[in-house]
Amino acid sequence: MAEAAVTASAGRPHLRVEGAVKSFDGRVVVEVADLTLGNNPVEGLIGPNGAGKTTLMRMIMHSLKLDKGRVTFYPGDGARGVVISSRPAHAMASLGVVKTNQVIQDFEKLTIWDSLLLAAARRREERPFRIFAEKRVWARNTDEIKRYLEEFPFANPYGFAKSAGEKKLLDILRCLLLRPKLLLLDEPTAGLPADVRDRVMQTIKKKAVDENVSVVIVEHDLNVIWTLSDYVHFMAEGSVVLQGDPAWIREHETVVEKYLGKGHVGH
Ligand SMILES: Nc1ncnc2c1ncn2[C@@H]1O[C@H](COP(=O)(O)OP(=O)(O)OP(=O)(O)O)[C@@H](O)[C@H]1O
Ligand SMILES: [Mg+2]
Repeated sequence: MAEAAVTASAGRPHLRVEGAVKSFDGRVVVEVADLTLGNNPVEGLIGPNGAGKTTLMRMIMHSLKLDKGRVTFYPGDGARGVVISSRPAHAMASLGVVKTNQVIQDFEKLTIWDSLLLAAARRREERPFRIFAEKRVWARNTDEIKRYLEEFPFANPYGFAKSAGEKKLLDILRCLLLRPKLLLLDEPTAGLPADVRDRVMQTIKKKAVDENVSVVIVEHDLNVIWTLSDYVHFMAEGSVVLQGDPAWIREHETVVEKYLGKGHVGH
C-alpha cells in the first residue's frame, strides 16, 4: 500500500523549493528550507494572513525574484527536473506550470470568447497559428471552449467579462485551457457565487485525479480545503511548519492556535 503510493506520487508533476528566501525592506517574509508541492492530486497551502503564501507562489512563478534558493519543476513520469527559478515568468506556461491571476490584465481588451481561444492557442502542444489556420484544430478547440461555456455560463460570452466573479471564472477557465501539469490557485473562489465555486472546484478536482494535473490551492475558505485536498501544507511566519492529511492538520494544536482559533480575514 505504502509502496504503491510512493510509486504513484513519483509520477506526478511536482515542484521542489529549496533554500528559498525572500525579504521585503530587510524583513524575511518567506524562508522555505525544502518543500515539495504536488505529490498528491490536490494539495492545500493554508495559513494566517501574511504567512507568505502568495509570496511563495509568486516566487515559484518567478514573478518575484528569489533572494536565495531555487525551485525545480519535475514534469512527472520520472522526467528530469528543470530549474525554473532561473527562467523568465513567461516561460512557465510552456513548461506546464500555470498560476491564476497571472494574465489578468487584458480583460478590457479581449472578449471572453477571444481570451479563451487565445489560451487554447497558447498551450504547449499547439502552435498558435494552427488554431486559426486549420479547421480541424479550430473545431476541436472551439468544442472544448463551448463545453466550458455550457457548464459555466457568462452573461454574454461574446462580450467582455464585467463583474469580479466573471473575471475570476474566466481566469480559471483560461488556466485550464492552457492544459497545465501543475496548477497553482491563489484564493480561486473568492468572489464566486457558492454554486459556481462548487462546480469549479469539482472540475478542478476531476482534472487533478483523471488527468494527472497536480493542483496546489491557497484558500481561506477552509471547507474547500477540507473537502478537496488530499494533503495540506500549513504555513506560518514565512515557513511551512506542518504537513499532513487534512483531518490531522485540522485537529493539530499549532494550526488551531495560530490560525483556526484566531480571527482571520478571508479575501
Ligand atoms: N511587495 C511587498 N512589499 C513589502 N512587503 C510585502 C510585499 N508583498 C508582501 N509583503 C509582506 O510579506 C508578508 C507575506 O505576505 P503574503 O501576501 O505572501 O501573505 P499571504 O500568506 O498570502 O497572506 P493572505 O492570506 O492575507 O493573502 C506580509 O507581511 C506582507 O505584508
Ligand atoms: Mg495571499
